[in-house]
Amino acid sequence: MAAAASIRDVVKRVRDGRDRRTVIDNVSFELERGDLVVLRGPSGAGKTTLLALVGAMLSPTSGEVFLDGEATSRLRESHRAHVRRHKVGFVFQDLQLIDAMSALENVLLPRIPDGVTATDARRAHTLLERFGVGALAATPARALSGGERQRVALARALIADAPLLILDEPTAHIDDARAASIAGELASLAREGRAILVATHDARIASHAAITRVLDLAGGVLAPQARGGDAPATPTPYAR
Ligand SMILES: Nc1ncnc2c1ncn2[C@@H]1O[C@H](COP(=O)(O)OP(=O)(O)OP(=O)(O)O)[C@@H](O)[C@H]1O
Ligand SMILES: [Mg+2]
Repeated sequence: MAAAASIRDVVKRVRDGRDRRTVIDNVSFELERGDLVVLRGPSGAGKTTLLALVGAMLSPTSGEVFLDGEATSRLRESHRAHVRRHKVGFVFQDLQLIDAMSALENVLLPRIPDGVTATDARRAHTLLERFGVGALAATPARALSGGERQRVALARALIADAPLLILDEPTAHIDDARAASIAGELASLAREGRAILVATHDARIASHAAITRVLDLAGGVLAPQARGGDAPATPTPYAR
């Protein structure tokens, strides 16, 4: 089976006034199903940009991003959007829920381009139940608490059952209990056979026993990764 995501020699340059600035500099790594990988780095290191590249929301200047084996960088945008909807779930730092829509409608949003089926609706309900917000399915997003919104955004990211789940700072502004529960959720979602990439400064996530790898990004450059020797102190989900 192809890796959920394969990032090869990815460079991203952006225009900065009259100059061009390298934001992501020759980054390569793989995300396999079952991986729960943390992306760390100081503010401005390029974490959000790298997540957008991995999720095929942004095209690399050079290099290639393969999602479930498919090269994405030179696809027409309509095709790329299709690949993205089926191969990646994304939880944005600001969640990006639509306030006027119910929790359920928000979860079903990514299914609209392909047509929402009865199976999708059942799956959306199941996901909301799983994250403890099933009773809020009909509640408009604007009436939800921060933690409830986060759960709805996570359910939405899982609606297509994509092999890759990407989260940008999922524990910003939440308390320790909820951070621990998110870390636990991510661990079980990885165990089910997804690859998960989570950008975070949060030691409550980064030090979780189920993390399989930590990627350190600084100035757009990934720190060298140990080969085989960078296993966490505790067994990975596979090793149990
Ligand atoms: N389209 C763009 N045009 C100009 N500069 C950009 C663009 N995209 C990103 N940058 C710059 O690239 C750098 C990396 O930004 P990015 O948002 O990826 O960092 P980050 O690691 O997510 O930071 P934070 O922890 O604050 O969220 C920043 O200096 C940012 O200003
Ligand atoms: Mg960021």
